[in-house]
Amino acid sequence: MALLLLFRTLFPLVFQVGILNVTTSASSTDRIEAWLPDDWNGRFLATGNGGIGGCIDYNNLQYGAGLGFATFGTNGGHDGQTGFDFFLNRPEDIKNFGHCAIHTEAEAGKQVVAKYYGRNASYNYYSGCGTGGRQGYEEAILYPDDFDGILMGSMGVDWLHVVASKGILAHRLGWPDLNSPSYITAMQWSAIVKAQIALLDPLDAVTDGIIDNPTLHNIDPSIFACGTGILNSSLCLTAAQANTVREIYQPLANSSGHIVYPAFDLGADTSVFSANTKVVNGTSIPELSYTVLTDYWRGAVYNSSTWTPLNFTTADMDFAVNLNPGGINIAGGSSHNVSAYHARGGKLLAYHGRADQTVTSSISSRTFQRTAEALDLTLAEMHGFFRLFYIPGMGHCSGGPGAWSVGQPTVDRPTGAQFNDTQHNILLALVDWVEDGNAPGSLVGTKFAGDQLQGGRVKAQRTHCAYPNASRWDRVGDTKKAESWKCQLEGVI
Ligand SMILES: *[C@@H]1O[C@H](CO)[C@@H](O)[C@H](O)[C@H]1NC(C)=O
Ligand SMILES: *[C@@H]1O[C@H](CO)[C@@H](O)[C@H](O)[C@H]1NC(C)=O
Ligand SMILES: *[C@@H]1O[C@H](CO)[C@@H](O)[C@H](O)[C@H]1NC(C)=O
Ligand SMILES: *[C@@H]1O[C@H](CO)[C@@H](O)[C@H](O)[C@H]1NC(C)=O
Ligand SMILES: *[C@@H]1O[C@H](CO)[C@@H](O)[C@H](O)[C@H]1NC(C)=O
Ligand SMILES: *[C@@H]1O[C@H](CO)[C@@H](O)[C@H](O)[C@H]1NC(C)=O
Ligand SMILES: *[C@@H]1O[C@H](CO)[C@@H](O)[C@H](O)[C@H]1NC(C)=O
Ligand SMILES: *[C@@H]1O[C@H](CO)[C@@H](O)[C@H](O)[C@H]1NC(C)=O
Ligand SMILES: *[C@@H]1O[C@H](CO)[C@@H](O)[C@H](O)[C@H]1NC(C)=O
Ligand SMILES: *[C@@H]1O[C@H](CO)[C@@H](O)[C@H](O)[C@H]1NC(C)=O
Repeated sequence: MALLLLFRTLFPLVFQVGILNVTTSASSTDRIEAWLPDDWNGRFLATGNGGIGGCIDYNNLQYGAGLGFATFGTNGGHDGQTGFDFFLNRPEDIKNFGHCAIHTEAEAGKQVVAKYYGRNASYNYYSGCGTGGRQGYEEAILYPDDFDGILMGSMGVDWLHVVASKGILAHRLGWPDLNSPSYITAMQWSAIVKAQIALLDPLDAVTDGIIDNPTLHNIDPSIFACGTGILNSSLCLTAAQANTVREIYQPLANSSGHIVYPAFDLGADTSVFSANTKVVNGTSIPELSYTVLTDYWRGAVYNSSTWTPLNFTTADMDFAVNLNPGGINIAGGSSHNVSAYHARGGKLLAYHGRADQTVTSSISSRTFQRTAEALDLTLAEMHGFFRLFYIPGMGHCSGGPGAWSVGQPTVDRPTGAQFNDTQHNILLALVDWVEDGNAPGSLVGTKFAGDQLQGGRVKAQRTHCAYPNASRWDRVGDTKKAESWKCQLEGVI
């Protein structure tokens, strides 16, 4: 392991930036980057990857270092966010992305910290979203000693089902036959989703463009058929298309008939399965826009550079899940055994948008419930080490109409001391929990005008609650103020 201290940066604090290559086998290397603040808060922060990995997460690095953490990022064992060559016939790289890269980052990073600052960090943390959420949960299962606190956004656990779902849903739509009678165009989908929001949003008492909890609702797709007046004559559905909508919102079953993945969330953007065309020479041809599926099945599942998802079926999904390349599906797929992490006092803090178009939101509550079952814990015991915050109206990791900024790592961090505390910043909330035992019961999320986090105007704020509590308007106060939203148990509306 050679640490190459590259340069000092002066914005926005003074950091030392270093890059190291960690050789993990004769044929594999992890690239790790360290941002080491002069004004160190004494803590270590490792960060995860997005999608198919291959990139150091600079948002997370800048965010962590800006808060004073000695912060590390990893490429997950390969370079490149699209493509399959980095997995094709490269079992060590598949393994690194599957379950080793974050552990390598933790071990190497801790050594760098000790060497650079002359002492070990007082506490060790992790932060990641999507695939990074999957990596965090996998750490708790396999390497419980790496971290004291793990922050997991949009947990992409049971990763192979998350990825496969894009192919299964596209085929339910009739794709790749764009002329199939059941096919629904991207323009129709956006009208369908808009209508879902218009119909369901008011049911949670506040008409704010947000369906607080889409899993509590059901819509009969026949209302989108021509003649009902919900969609106009150029967008309304035929009977065959209405049936497609019905199928799209069913959960995924494997070939033995077991439900393996929850239904796509009502109100979430559907592009991930509905916008699978590419225009070539003026003609639309079918191409899956979610490249992770094609790339991963080519490189890591089938070892074939010519495989295409044009005929993707449940059998392709099951094959991958049973193969479990590099142990990628341990987290929340084949295991929920975080008992060693629980026993050593580690904390898990999760957040998930209720309009997540990439990782269906109920995967997080499923993981919470299955963890309780695997460890045989009561809700109070679960809340002693694992808390999940749902964020209504947030998409994948960030963004959307909801009051989504809870200080999670994004390109920018909200400026101003009022956002830099344990109520508004979820990483600081985790620190407070780990180091001072203050478990977060609620958080305050902010919607900034134009999603401008740095110096932007506050458009609305809302309280977010620890699942299974959810925030409900008190029916008195200003709905744009956090104090008008109270945490309460919610299973029905
Ligand atoms: C790490 O590896 C990359 C290529 O994979 C190389 O360009 C770089 O110089 C190496 N860095 C160190 C510190 O060895
Ligand atoms: C992948 O396919 C190549 C040839 O296409 C073969 O040489 C290689 O052994 C295969 N690797 C694995 C891991 O199956
Ligand atoms: C730092 O922690 C490592 C184990 O992770 C331990 O071996 C080492 O002695 C510690 N160093 C100091 C200075 O406490
Ligand atoms: C239907 O609505 C869409 C989107 O608002 C609009 O572009 C289109 O012109 C409308 N068609 C008719 C026939 O009203
Ligand atoms: C697109 O048109 C160009 C020029 O006519 C042709 O060379 C190319 O093969 C076409 N591509 C496809 C995918 O049809
Ligand atoms: C895939 O499906 C298409 C029809 O969409 C069919 O023409 C083709 O033969 C199939 N390919 C394979 C490899 O099964
Ligand atoms: C379907 O899922 C169930 C439950 O996880 C599992 O036991 C079964 O083996 C799976 N079937 C296939 C074909 O993978
Ligand atoms: C769960 O993990 C613990 C500690 O790592 C181990 O002792 C136990 O056997 C595991 N339980 C199961 C059901 O695998
Ligand atoms: C934010 O809060 C943390 C923890 O209380 C503190 O260390 C840091 O200096 C604060 N940063 C700013 C910019 O106020
Ligand atoms: C859930 O809400 C109830 C009612 O406000 C409160 O008593 C309870 O402490 C909350 N639970 C958690 C874990 O925040």
